[in-house]
Amino acid sequence: MTDLATSPAADLAHAAAPAPASADPRGPLDARALAADFPILAQRPHGKRLVYLDSAATSQKPTVVIEAMDGYYREYNANVHRAIYEIGERATQEYEAARVKVARLINAPAAHEIVWTRNATEAVNLVAYSWGRRNIGPGDAIVLTEMEHHANLVPWQILAQEVDGDLEFIPITDDGLLRLDVFEVLLRLRPKLVAFTHVSNTLGTINPVREMVEMAHAAGALVLVDGAQAVPHLPVDVQALGADFYVFSGHKMLGPTGSGVLWGRRELLDAMPPFMAGGDMIREVKLRRSEYNDVPWKFEAGTPDISAAIGLGVAADYLRDLGMDRVREHERELVAYALDLLPREVPGIALYGPSADLRGGVIAFNLPAIHPHDVAQILDRSGVCVRAGHHCTMPLHERLDLAATARASFSVFTTRDDIDALAAGLREVQRVFGV
Ligand SMILES: Cc1ncc(COP(=O)(O)O)c(C=O)c1O
Repeated sequence: MTDLATSPAADLAHAAAPAPASADPRGPLDARALAADFPILAQRPHGKRLVYLDSAATSQKPTVVIEAMDGYYREYNANVHRAIYEIGERATQEYEAARVKVARLINAPAAHEIVWTRNATEAVNLVAYSWGRRNIGPGDAIVLTEMEHHANLVPWQILAQEVDGDLEFIPITDDGLLRLDVFEVLLRLRPKLVAFTHVSNTLGTINPVREMVEMAHAAGALVLVDGAQAVPHLPVDVQALGADFYVFSGHKMLGPTGSGVLWGRRELLDAMPPFMAGGDMIREVKLRRSEYNDVPWKFEAGTPDISAAIGLGVAADYLRDLGMDRVREHERELVAYALDLLPREVPGIALYGPSADLRGGVIAFNLPAIHPHDVAQILDRSGVCVRAGHHCTMPLHERLDLAATARASFSVFTTRDDIDALAAGLREVQRVFGV
């Protein structure tokens, strides 16, 4: 890597202003009432209330999503874009209507700019293989950050190795904010692409996307934003953010596994070659050449996960009906509560990442002298589910000089009671270990 890290973080003014109280006349989210929408929360692991604090890994699903998928299989299971009979037409209609619902959630200009993928990972790979191999050449720089999930790192490593490109990284401060002063210096390399996460899945940091997009565009770079931890938790307006590509996963936003999204600007998607080839992505096929379909179908070769797309559409509507401002305010308030409570209740706990106003519903932590895997295992006895490990951010853990962390993450159904249960569970972990 070129060492361009020069001046100290002179201007971290991107630290966003505190979120305003929800202007929604319905007032704050009633998470306790919402929990009734999620049937899994009635489970009693080890005879205890299920306290699910791993929504950053995958969220739970509300009944409306489960029923929509069930309804597809029970009432109109048929392939899409092919059948001329009634249930087939209904399948196509619901599958395409889901695209409109997702487009509405993120304020995409057109539903045709929503490409279905299996998950955020596949969406990044699609851009890396299709756009990347056309547009990145020897010596071209791609700027990433030190806090990327492996999904937004390894595809670019493979591309850079293949075309002899150059990867550069925006470093972070010790409290987990991006060094925009260094970013400014890196942009002097005239990178072709800047790719970064909207919200860190480990530190929770909410990055200043709009400001970074403006900086990148001024330097002539395109921007891909990884919104896997943003779309489920805060208002996302892809037009206001101004990015060129925006990717996310359905299963983290109350939708099913097997669903994900690449949003891209229409003219970029139009110019990109297919990523996978086969049925459905073609208009006309001859023995030696083919003409491809329009976007988004050009990128959706083969029979898609129809029920997953339909379920994701319902999840998008569910979130939209709640109001994403209210969801954000709910999680900001929970993070503030947890950041205040945990150090008081759990002696020695180390918390990583910025203040509540600057982070999504994610809290990575460690207990002194206890491995996070042990922490997670003993918490499970209290019915509390947290993740332990590197959370697919090994370079970030290395930067923080940590082998692993435990991580609690929130969703619309998370309550203060859940955080109290986490604190009590952590004290129990310390009791078990005699510390
Ligand atoms: C920030 C971020 N990006 C990308 C991903 C990859 O998501 P998926 O495994 O659904 O492709 C994750 C998953 O944890 C994530 O947190």
